[in-house]
Amino acid sequence: MARITAGVGCSHVPAIGVAMDTKITDQPYWQPVFKGFEKSREWMKEKNPDVIFLVYNDHCTAFDASCIPTFALGAAAEFKPADEGWGPRPVPVVKNHQKMASHIAQSLVLDEFDITIMNEMEVDHGLTVPLSVMYGDMGPDDEWPALVIPLAVNVVQYPAPTGNRCYNLGKAIRKAVESYEEDLNVVIFGTGGMSHQLQYKRAGLINAEWDKRFLDLLTEDPVYASKIPHVEYLREAGSEGVEMVMWHVMRGALDDEVIEVHRHYHVPASNTAVGHIILENKAA
Ligand code: DHB
Ligand code: FE
Repeated sequence: MARITAGVGCSHVPAIGVAMDTKITDQPYWQPVFKGFEKSREWMKEKNPDVIFLVYNDHCTAFDASCIPTFALGAAAEFKPADEGWGPRPVPVVKNHQKMASHIAQSLVLDEFDITIMNEMEVDHGLTVPLSVMYGDMGPDDEWPALVIPLAVNVVQYPAPTGNRCYNLGKAIRKAVESYEEDLNVVIFGTGGMSHQLQYKRAGLINAEWDKRFLDLLTEDPVYASKIPHVEYLREAGSEGVEMVMWHVMRGALDDEVIEVHRHYHVPASNTAVGHIILENKAA
């Protein structure tokens, strides 16, 4: 039987990917950002997941205003890094576990989560940056060490899903994974955030106190955290802070009580607070 052994929460700041691609990660500005991922890379080596179920958001790359799926599951054989204006990132193509993705699609829909199924999709920094920070430098001719099942969540255009809906989707994903017969070690990623606002009068907003409370709640009181309303993300974490609802999908797929094995929080990286957490199921 496949099982979800751990969850990773992780920012996806595009400039972090650029810093890695242009090899400037040891510059004083970036050094503390990457220092916090050293332990994570060790942990990834040790954990060595077969499959990463990666919850992320697309930024008007694969989707635009013409089509806005709330939850879109990647069912294609592979997903190429998208050109976001400066050419595709020089990182490996993302390979799917297509059979497991199809099983999860069926399980979710029969469980009344009516996801969109993507048989073709390119992936942007929302997906590639978390893989890069967790695995380290990988070139376009390398292979990511794990297969990746992407789940894109709409947090770009209101109405975005609630934290509670995301949390319950996490539970349905766990049920889907645990009903897949192959013996696979699955790690789930919830990505995006933390507090940031890229536009208008409050551009540059970062709220470290609120972010840290969010991380505390995520570990200790995930149900309470999942009930945080959209307006609180907007007010406290800025207009792009709502990306954090994706972390509740990850948390919902884990046990009620988890072990926090690592946390990293740093301000700033580009316009954003970088947040990262690793949570393990006790029985893992
Ligand atoms: C930044 C952060 C994001 O989450 C994003 O999608 C784009 C830009 C930033 O901090 O610059
Ligand atoms: Fe973003």
